[in-house]
Amino acid sequence: MRRVVIIGAGIAAMSAALTLAEQGWKSVLVSPMISERAQSVMAEGGINAALDTMGEGDSVRAHFCDTMAAGCGLADPNAVADLTAHGPETVRALASLGVPFHTTASGDITLRPFGGQKKRRTAFVRSSTGRQIVTALARACRREEKAGRIVRLSHHWLQQILTAEGRCTGCIVRDGRMGRFDVLAGPVLLASGGLNGLFGKTTGSVQNTGAATALAYAVGAACGNLEMIQYHPTTVPISGKRVLISEAARGEGGRLFLRRGGEKWYFMEEKYPELKNLMPRDVVSWEIEQVCRETGEDRAWLDLTGVDPAVFDERLEDLRAFCLEFLHLDPQKEPVPVYPGIHYFMGGVYVDRAHRSTLPGLYAAGECACQYHGANRLGGNSLLGAVYGGRRAAETLLRDDGPPAPPPDAQARWTAALREIENRPGRVSCRAAEGRMNEAMNDCLGIRRCEEELAAGAKTLADLSTSLAAGYDPSAGAPEQYLLERRLILARAMVDSARARRESRGAQYRTDYPKRDDGAFQKTTLARWRAGKTEITFADIPKEETP
Ligand code: FUM
Repeated sequence: MRRVVIIGAGIAAMSAALTLAEQGWKSVLVSPMISERAQSVMAEGGINAALDTMGEGDSVRAHFCDTMAAGCGLADPNAVADLTAHGPETVRALASLGVPFHTTASGDITLRPFGGQKKRRTAFVRSSTGRQIVTALARACRREEKAGRIVRLSHHWLQQILTAEGRCTGCIVRDGRMGRFDVLAGPVLLASGGLNGLFGKTTGSVQNTGAATALAYAVGAACGNLEMIQYHPTTVPISGKRVLISEAARGEGGRLFLRRGGEKWYFMEEKYPELKNLMPRDVVSWEIEQVCRETGEDRAWLDLTGVDPAVFDERLEDLRAFCLEFLHLDPQKEPVPVYPGIHYFMGGVYVDRAHRSTLPGLYAAGECACQYHGANRLGGNSLLGAVYGGRRAAETLLRDDGPPAPPPDAQARWTAALREIENRPGRVSCRAAEGRMNEAMNDCLGIRRCEEELAAGAKTLADLSTSLAAGYDPSAGAPEQYLLERRLILARAMVDSARARRESRGAQYRTDYPKRDDGAFQKTTLARWRAGKTEITFADIPKEETP
């Protein structure tokens, strides 16, 4: 039985594993947590597909155009064409697997409005769509686990990606319970989610440390558009994290306002009369930041008091339960204080239309991959990208040749790498270094950026790398330190990418280069780790092929 190593246990990972199992291939799912704790369960508002069940004349082409427009010219048009064309069948397949999508009176899937889309296109289960998709996929995976076609290595961490002669040949994983390291041979599919751990305070899980992407980067896989970080417009701070107030709230009629001179100012409705509160996220977040700055307020308000109580009960029940429990307010009676927070990474491992990275034998799907979303992602396209992307990556794997076996001395070399860290004379603190990395990343990669702050961030990260390299932290242990050192390299590549893109577009707003510059920058920012240094270049966007 041919075998693939999949790093992750969320939606993209399970979708890939199920596709491979259908063809009799075996997958090993490596992940610190079980699927039910994967970041995918945090996806709330829905999944996009041009099902046109609301009689609005929606089409795959319209979905394609909205996705490309939201991506501000940086998304791969051929990948987006594939994604949007497969939207309807993907959502219907999920319904057949048991995802209890909300349905119309006639039994067809209901669609709700979502940001940046001119038609209703977002299928949903209340505001816990990701959780429901995970549940259905995990149940389907269980059947394959029983048949031996899916093997789960939970509580396992990716430690190193192995290469030989310019190809990925497998990886080394650490069993967190036994402290053992194992070499897993075979092609590797990264489905490891976003880069939340580089920032700390995001809406995503900090279990998604960014280490898997960092390890891929460190062995030569190019990363694309790392500077494109999506700030979700409506988040709230809870216990040192940002928590999402789903876009579904605005989809169902929620209105953003600011208090100005004792009046409610519905600024999005005044400034954007066509899509109002449902402009793409980059625009809404930027506007909230801007109007708060202008008025000296530290938050905007989300007014849900006008939403029909029946709609609330049926579609936003879990959002209300969250507000009551954690914010001690009833969103049907009073507005919710909100501010943008980091939510999604459009950048990541740069892949082609078929999900191959630039390192043969290494693939990526889901949030860790850069391809579908360009400079800004449409809400509802991440779940589609994860389900469809996982499947598409698996289909590519089924066609490609398997890699050669890892070098026989892989384990010995890994042990030597750990010994090198343990034998360093100085003492360092990984926890303190990680905290400073998070701080520097949040300080310089906000909604507004400028050279001065980016340069300061780059210097802090470089200094942290230098100081870690001189010492060892026994309390963290060498495997953790090894990962942190590579995460710092990736963090630095993110900052360097933002510095190199001297323009404003989508999620990147440079106060020192406030204009969009298509001539120079309608291209993918490519970061590569070469001879111990990040090299940034700009790659052309693929031409749209005729369907
Ligand atoms: O607001 C939301 O429910 C988020 C959805 C998404 O990021 O796709």
